[in-house]
Amino acid sequence: MGFSVHWTWFSVLSCLLCLGCEVWCDCTEEGIQISGGHFTTTKQLQRSSMLVYHCPEGYYPFPHLTRVCQADGSWQPRPKKSLQLQQRCKLIECPDPNVLENGNVSPPQERYFLDNETNYECYSGFTMRGSSRRVCLQNGKWSGSTPICSRDTGHNCADPGIPAGASRSGSIFGIDDKVKYKCNGNLFLVGSSERVCQENGQWTGKEPACYYKHTYDTPLEVSAAFGSAIKGTLTTLESLDDTQGERKIRISKNGTLNIYIAVDISESIEEKHFNDARDAVSKLIEKIASFSVTPNYDILFFSAEIYEVVNILNFLDGTVSLHTVKDKLEKFKVGNRNTAGTDVSLVFDTFNERMAVIKQRTGDAFKEHRHVLIIFTDGAYNMGGSPAPTVEKIKNLVYMNPSNEEERKAREDFLDIYVFAVGAEIFDSDLQPLTVGTDGRHYFRMKDIENLQETFDEIIDEEQVKDLCGLHREYDTGLTDSKRKMYPWWVYIVVQNTKTKKCLGSLVTSKFILTAAHCFTFGDLPKHVTVEINDGFGRVKKVKTFYKHPKYNVNAKTDEGVKEFYDYDVALIQLKDDVHISTAVRPICIPCTQETSDALQLVGESTCKQQEQLLLKNHLESLSFLTKGRDALAEKDVHAKLGDNRDSCIIHALHADGITTDNPKIAVTDNFLCTGGRTPFRDHIACTGDSGGAVFKNYKHRTIQVAVVSWGTTTVCEGGGVVDSQENSRDFHLNLFRVVPFLKSILGNDTQDDYATLQFLAN
Ligand SMILES: *[C@@H]1O[C@H](CO)[C@@H](O)[C@H](O)[C@H]1NC(C)=O
Ligand SMILES: *[C@@H]1O[C@H](CO)[C@@H](O)[C@H](O)[C@H]1NC(C)=O
Ligand SMILES: *[C@@H]1O[C@H](CO)[C@@H](O)[C@H](O)[C@H]1NC(C)=O
Repeated sequence: MGFSVHWTWFSVLSCLLCLGCEVWCDCTEEGIQISGGHFTTTKQLQRSSMLVYHCPEGYYPFPHLTRVCQADGSWQPRPKKSLQLQQRCKLIECPDPNVLENGNVSPPQERYFLDNETNYECYSGFTMRGSSRRVCLQNGKWSGSTPICSRDTGHNCADPGIPAGASRSGSIFGIDDKVKYKCNGNLFLVGSSERVCQENGQWTGKEPACYYKHTYDTPLEVSAAFGSAIKGTLTTLESLDDTQGERKIRISKNGTLNIYIAVDISESIEEKHFNDARDAVSKLIEKIASFSVTPNYDILFFSAEIYEVVNILNFLDGTVSLHTVKDKLEKFKVGNRNTAGTDVSLVFDTFNERMAVIKQRTGDAFKEHRHVLIIFTDGAYNMGGSPAPTVEKIKNLVYMNPSNEEERKAREDFLDIYVFAVGAEIFDSDLQPLTVGTDGRHYFRMKDIENLQETFDEIIDEEQVKDLCGLHREYDTGLTDSKRKMYPWWVYIVVQNTKTKKCLGSLVTSKFILTAAHCFTFGDLPKHVTVEINDGFGRVKKVKTFYKHPKYNVNAKTDEGVKEFYDYDVALIQLKDDVHISTAVRPICIPCTQETSDALQLVGESTCKQQEQLLLKNHLESLSFLTKGRDALAEKDVHAKLGDNRDSCIIHALHADGITTDNPKIAVTDNFLCTGGRTPFRDHIACTGDSGGAVFKNYKHRTIQVAVVSWGTTTVCEGGGVVDSQENSRDFHLNLFRVVPFLKSILGNDTQDDYATLQFLAN
């Protein structure tokens, strides 16, 4: 630094002449006071001291959050004399909710402040998804989720809505159609500014949100979003060897996970933030250790230099263990290290180099390595330039020159970069572009990470993960229990009384199996029922009791020309003892539970309807069920004909034996999903023996059951196997969304203490 020619004579008065002829000045307190709040400084009024404004709860500092003392004795930004720009605490504001299409927002206001309430209503002919009432919260966000008023247009994707404070371009939601978002005024966008409608009916990316400088993510939001993303990564990587016990470094054949963590300790990050970040990292590692995947770690702290805690290459050599990592982390103190300057670029360079060495050492196996980078910083990098080019290099390294879009997509799963932006003043526009990854949110904005450790602790809970519904392995290894790990919830049921009936079922909790009511006939008792599920503690499970849906009555419509009526064809079997949960024996997710909302990544208060709209949205919804063939379990693919397609599907019920009515709706009530036929897709058809099995759909890495295989128009096959549907054969499956009260009355009955209950949604 040299002399500045812009000094005025009076500022020189407060400057000191020091050794080495460097000239520097103290800043003054003039004009920096804040009305309604107070400020703290990192080095009093000395050069490079950072001034941070604090306001009482519900308020934020305006117009600036921080100031830095410059070498010339001035504050940056400079305090202003004008009354309007005088530093003060302002009431928290939320982004403008009057962006709702096809509906009304009340009350209409120009601006919305903390605790202001809003109500949303759709015009007639439009239906509402999301929250119909929202409250402006302390962190500058609206409670609940974006309200959306839409009409069924037969588009492939559902209307993605417009978040508060945003505007959207694009209103056609067919395959490959794009929508783009912008935030209005001085708001900035967090999340995906562009989303594309995919073939599977889902939008790419994540719903964007518009943030003010005073908008933050709560620890709960962070851990819910980050927790579910990291859980997804961890659970799909679970090692082949499930033996519990001593936690050694055990790198599975199918996936090596490398986790790189960097924590900013530069002076712009306050010491307390550093300690909190360190404790959160420590907790995160501990939690990850409870999964049966054992990652390699690289952990470092940084300012203008790198302070290494653990080098991943030592992990690879086996010269460090998890225990040493935690130890080293706990002992690390900022102490007297030089904390001046921030070089985020150096962090990415370091990680990039290490990844290149890993590639060199592991050769071909590198393609099985997944990399997760987690960076805690405020992004005020003032050295080393932008890290963006290095991020590109890292992408190239991990994506391995894909030759087409599909290959690239497959490789995208192997790299995630998460940024936790922490600090009084965050450089969002520099930091956000550094995130990489497709699954869930990768950018988090936190005022304070005080509670992050606790919330990591809560959300990534070992016990919770162990029986997390719907988790499964996505590929066949060909080993004996491979099918069990792909469909860990599948159950084989034999009812042996006067006749023998074979059915399939699904494990929904460690004590309950969901199946069809028609698997039981009058006079069947629990002792006639055998449930087979091999959890390593005996194949055959004893049955305590079973419950058929109280409205199930096969003879109810004989007078109306339906000899066998299967409405409410659903039953629950209660086992005497809990099955042992493992990667091979795990419950499936069922509608309207909190766990299913988590699996569907519905953040905040969610509803049953939201779940149904996600799962059964397309007019040809692709679903699956299982069949137990002679040799092995196999999966059948079908398409539920919904909406406008339903009538022409259920009409085929009139061909079924024993149906003499000419109104198909008498036999096929609204409680059924209809599949089968050959157009526009050639569906598979159910065989005898497939009854009672789960009709399911995979969402990300989780399986959700939407129906129970009930009955069909034609007996195309006996004894199982994957068989194509005929032109006119149809199957009907009982839609679980229509029997939630029954499921809840038993699985959610918390007035008993015989078994653990599921948490059903209030709405
Ligand atoms: C919104 O909040 C402001 C500030 O607290 C308050 O003055 C105003 O009355 C609220 N408006 C409504 C409609 O509640
Ligand atoms: C896991 O390993 C199996 C067999 O070695 C292989 O077929 C499969 O593609 C691998 N899965 C992943 C996700 O790499
Ligand atoms: C719930 O459990 C209690 C206690 O076992 C029982 O009395 C009650 O009938 C159960 N409720 C239902 C709906 O089954």
